[in-house]
Parts: sequence; C-alpha cells; structure tokens
Amino acid sequence: MKIGINRETAPGENRVAATPDLVSKLVSAGHDVAVQSEAGVNAGFPDKVYAEAGGSLEDSSTDVAGSSDLLLQVGKPSDDEIGSLRSGSVLAATLDARRDSATIDALAETGVTAFAMDLVPRIARAQSMDVLSSQASIAGYKSVLMAADSMSRFFPMMMTAAGTIPPARVLILGAGVAGLQAIATAKRLGADVYAFDVRAAAGEQVESLGAKFIAPPDSDDAETAGGYARAQTEDENARQRKFLAEHIVRADAVVTTAAIPGRTAPLLIETETVEAMKPGSIVIDLAAETGGNVEATVAGEDVDINGVTVKGPVNVPSMMPYHASVTYARNLESLMTLIIGEDLALSIDFEDEVVDAMCVTHGGEVRGHTIGR
Ligand code: NAI
Repeated sequence: MKIGINRETAPGENRVAATPDLVSKLVSAGHDVAVQSEAGVNAGFPDKVYAEAGGSLEDSSTDVAGSSDLLLQVGKPSDDEIGSLRSGSVLAATLDARRDSATIDALAETGVTAFAMDLVPRIARAQSMDVLSSQASIAGYKSVLMAADSMSRFFPMMMTAAGTIPPARVLILGAGVAGLQAIATAKRLGADVYAFDVRAAAGEQVESLGAKFIAPPDSDDAETAGGYARAQTEDENARQRKFLAEHIVRADAVVTTAAIPGRTAPLLIETETVEAMKPGSIVIDLAAETGGNVEATVAGEDVDINGVTVKGPVNVPSMMPYHASVTYARNLESLMTLIIGEDLALSIDFEDEVVDAMCVTHGGEVRGHTIGR
C-alpha cells in the first residue's frame, strides 16, 4: 500500500504525522511511503532521515495526497490536497469533527474514508491511539513551563543565605489529562499545588500526585457515564466562580484546562477576579481555542490586567513538536493495526466500535453518527 505524509499547512503547525521511526517500520512491513520534502523539519526530522528510513521524498503535497492509499496528517489537509484525494483512499487526521462540518462535507464529496483522530473513544482498548490524551498531556506540561518562565518568582521553596523564599502557589482548574500533567509538572518544579474539577473522581487523582483538591461545599459530582463532565447549570457556575475566586486571588500562577466535549469552554474566571490577583501573577488559559475559561482571554495573545498576565496560547502541542510528533505517530501506528490487514491491504471493519466511532466519511457519505450533525 502507498502511504503518504505531507507537510502540515496550518499556520504555526510544527508537528508531523509520522516520524522516520514509523516510516522505517512501515517500509519494513512492505509499504511504500511518500514523504513531502520538509514535512518533518520543524519537528526535528530532516528529509535525509526520512530518506534513510526508506521514505521517498516528493515535492508536491497534492501529488502525495493524490497517489496515496492512506494519507497521514496531523491537521486537516488543505483544500487543494482534499481536491486531490482519490475516492476509496483513506485519510487519518485530527479533523475537529465536532465543529468543522464544512471539511467533513468536502471529504465526503471526494469519496475518501476519513478517520477523525479527535473522535477516538475514551475506552481502554483505544488508549494507544488516543491523540486527545497524548497531545493534552504535552499541553499540560508546557503550560506550567510557560507559567514558570513568565513569572518573576521562583516555583520551588528556596533556602538561601539571603533568606527563605516560600514556594509558588499554583492552581490548576480542570484535572483531566492536561490538568493532571500540569499538576505533576508544577509539583516537580516544587510548587505548592491546588486543583479543582467538577468530577469527584478527579479528587483522588489530584491527591495521588501530591496536590490538594479543592471543591465548593455541597457540590454534586458532574461526571457523565462516558467519563466526561456535564455542563454546569448557571447557578452551579456562579457558585463555583465565587468559590474559586478566593483561591485564585491567592495563587501566583493559575492554569485552566476545563472543557466540555463539543461545547464552548466553561467560564471559570471573571475579569474582576483577575483584577484582584497579585501583580506579577500569571494565568494560562489552555481552553483559549474553544472560547476560554477566563473572561479576559484573547486566543493567541497575552493580555495584561493590572500587572497580571493572562495568556491564551493556541496549539500548545505544536510548541513541543518533537515529542508531540513522536506520540502522535505512535497513535497513528496503533490505528493502522486496526485498519490494515495482514495482506497489507486496507481492511475496515465498521463492526469495530473504535473504527465506527472514528470514521466520519465513507463511500461518499458523512457517516450518520458524526457528533454535532
Ligand atoms: P476534557 O478535555 O474534556 O476536560 C478537561 C477537564 O475539565 C475534565 O477533567 C473535566 O471534568 C473538567 N471540567 C469540565 N467542566 C469544568 C468546570 N466547570 N470546572 C472545572 N473543571 C471542569 O477532558 P479529558 O482531559 O479529555 O478527560 C476526560 C475524561 O476522560 C477523564 O475522566 C479522563 O480520565 C478520561 N479519559 C479516559 C481515557 C480512556 O479510558 N481511554 C483516556 C483519556 C481520558
């Protein structure tokens, strides 16, 4: 089978879908792999390493897209690349499938079978192909490094000849995959870490990392059967914001990661709370791309409010493109074991719940279950 890997086209995207290591495995298995030149250069993988791994370098992304039986991408292909895809070929990419229906419709029109890596079911069997987890984990780690790097204070306690400096107080809001990694990173840096989540189960995970779990008194567990959080009522939201404000104003750094799948991010921090924080404090809003957890957030920018910096970084995994690509490629490798048979041909079994959940277009149609349709 011919497998294609293109250079990503989204502005600021530094990741690549397949590493030379994955290319080498695919070539050893008997596949032909075409790699667009400079596909991995921003992630630390120069062309010559792909060539040594057995990939054939090509200049044109539309040629790669048009000649591939399976095209691997981080983000969606460009319009030209989508126009070049052959009917019956397969695409695996992060497609923002819950929101970007125009791209899903365009893919359906080409007759391509598209797998949305962002629709991986959160079940044990699919963990190895879970790009939401692999990339969120990187974002959580990086968010704390950003906070530490932007702050004019130490994270750890310091006992110096010039006196003792207390540890930074760090608050993480939302303790899912990104939040837990942020907690672990802030702990490693020696901060005094607090965390909140609307799912009661997160409390134990927070405490197992050595952080303190905080929650409003009498709050209900908001975990759904699928393991995600349900949206809060207006009343719950208001009580939550009031409770959190007391902790936020005492924090040196706050990282927010709260999300509800398929919805705008919940608002956790109002501007008046940021105004009451200590000058020099930092807020990192990892939900900036889906509306933000912080009222003052501007996606992609830093906002200064009375000396407090509110950062709304976008595509944080792309800021650590080497390991983001390594883990993304491993997720794709795992998906490929599901959709490629021992004869090296595509073998797509819609009875498989993982295939069924992730496949958004097939045979010229948008598949009926695609969320948001
Ligand atoms: P997410 O990115 O959808 O949300 C991040 C966090 O925000 C979640 O922990 C959520 O409870 C929290 N949140 C939502 N509204 C909030 C609010 N108003 N205030 C504070 N926090 C709020 O979630 P993520 O990180 O993708 O994980 C969701 C769940 O899926 C978790 O239970 C996680 O353990 C589970 N999971 C299961 C996997 C598997 O079994 N394969 C793999 C990865 C995650």
